Amino acid sequence: MPFPDDFLGVDDVTTPQLLELLDAADRLKAGRSSRPADGSGGLRGRTIALVFEKPSTRTRVSFQVAVTELGGEPLPLSSAELQLGRGETIADTGAVLSRYVHAVVVRTFGQDRLQELADGATVPVVNALTDLEHPCQALADLQTFREVHGSFEGRSLAYVGDGNNVANSLLLAGAKVGLSVRIGHPEGYAPDAAITARARDLAAASGARILLTTDPVEAVVGADAVYADVWASMGQEAEASQRAEQFVPYRVTSELMGHAADGAVFLHCLPAHRGEEVTAEVIDGPASRVFDQAENRLHAQKALLAALLS
Ligand code: CP
Ligand code: NVA
Repeated sequence: MPFPDDFLGVDDVTTPQLLELLDAADRLKAGRSSRPADGSGGLRGRTIALVFEKPSTRTRVSFQVAVTELGGEPLPLSSAELQLGRGETIADTGAVLSRYVHAVVVRTFGQDRLQELADGATVPVVNALTDLEHPCQALADLQTFREVHGSFEGRSLAYVGDGNNVANSLLLAGAKVGLSVRIGHPEGYAPDAAITARARDLAAASGARILLTTDPVEAVVGADAVYADVWASMGQEAEASQRAEQFVPYRVTSELMGHAADGAVFLHCLPAHRGEEVTAEVIDGPASRVFDQAENRLHAQKALLAALLS
């Protein structure tokens, strides 16, 4: 299978392609620590637009550095400074940017909006987070999990909280590589139904198991990693206070971590709200690998850009 034209969601790549991205990310990480990047990577002479319709620290900076270290020119753009902010369609934006740049990385709201941009574009388009998926995050999460545990098969990751974009991408990514994914979510906050169904199909082939439960302890028991994300994602600010009450039983505490397997790690895509979805004791404690995850965004996205543009 040739590498896909775009990376709009985890399921755009096959399992072998996903594993090859993780291997490449590991090689890039090892190479970066032994010698500084000299900009001689495969993006020399290429410009990559980074379009953000929502705030970002990690994604914006890691993509900018990734492009630079691969020898290319990153072009960060916020929607407020584009005609997009004044009503130009996202499809026209994709078509126009394609006449100047060699790929477009986009953070936006609905997956339909990302798809419209990709339909208008003639260059590769990368999902840098939508309301439905955060596939670049899932690449870094798998890389981090494998660094800690060495393998995926027979292992499990428990995600506790809102069945959001991060949960959706983890379901697909885990199911593809044989990592069991258990989601402990409040009533009414399950992950996307179509993604869950697809993850179950993928899991049947890989040997992973998918569990959705409203019991956080059931999700975490024996898990090799426990994962949290914010209770209210970007765009859901109006629901934050109501969620804050309903989500309290899903806070990752030392007590909840105590149900996980020996050697279990704590993961979080960040930004985190200490005292809400996770206690400071857990996220700042010895089991936390959250800054490795953040670092791995850089390596995983370099691998992705190289695969898309080679
Ligand atoms: N995890 C993540 O995507 O962080 P940013 O919102 O800072 O990019
Ligand atoms: N679910 C969060 C992830 C932030 C990286 C959000 O969409 O805001």
